[in-house]
Amino acid sequence: MKRIVLFASGSGSNVENIINYFQDSNEVNVKCVLSNNKEAKVFDRCNRLKVSALYFNRTSFYQSDCVLEILKSFNPDLIVLAGFLWKIPENLIQNFPNKIVNIHPALLPKYGGKGMYGMHVHKSVKDNNETETGITIHYVNENYDEGAIIAQEKVTLEATDTPETIANKVHQLEYKHFPKVIHKIVMEQ
Ligand code: GRF
Repeated sequence: MKRIVLFASGSGSNVENIINYFQDSNEVNVKCVLSNNKEAKVFDRCNRLKVSALYFNRTSFYQSDCVLEILKSFNPDLIVLAGFLWKIPENLIQNFPNKIVNIHPALLPKYGGKGMYGMHVHKSVKDNNETETGITIHYVNENYDEGAIIAQEKVTLEATDTPETIANKVHQLEYKHFPKVIHKIVMEQ
């Protein structure tokens, strides 16, 4: 059985989608969800879905090996950032080489980097009159949104699209493709 740990900072709709996808799997088990935001709606989702979830603060993440030791205890085959807003610290990158993946709601390298998350991304895509957008699933390194790209999926945009309708189109892509890509990668570990 392959073991996955998820990280999220906000709503957690991708976390819920991934948990549901692997619900009855005999190959993959979602061990735990970790979040840096004690107000995150992802905790409500985990309570409803009866999945373990833990909150950690900056000290645990950046000034100690607390989160690292917790991750080691799960011995994950894959660590998945599903809407997680903090940069990953060196100790995690070094201890889990090529085992941390992220999903970004745009076609990297465009619309990536510090501050480019959520509606900021979709507003920028709209402001630039892009005719398409999409998602990028990539390995995580020490910089925001810069690791090797694993997969990208695109969706066309109309002039009538708003940042909100763009966000919805992107979320549909995420729900359709992210679990499948995770499944493929984790089985290769
Ligand atoms: C998603 O759009 C994802 O691409 C980005 O953060 C968002 C998380 O949304 N990294 P949710 O919390 O899964 O609803």
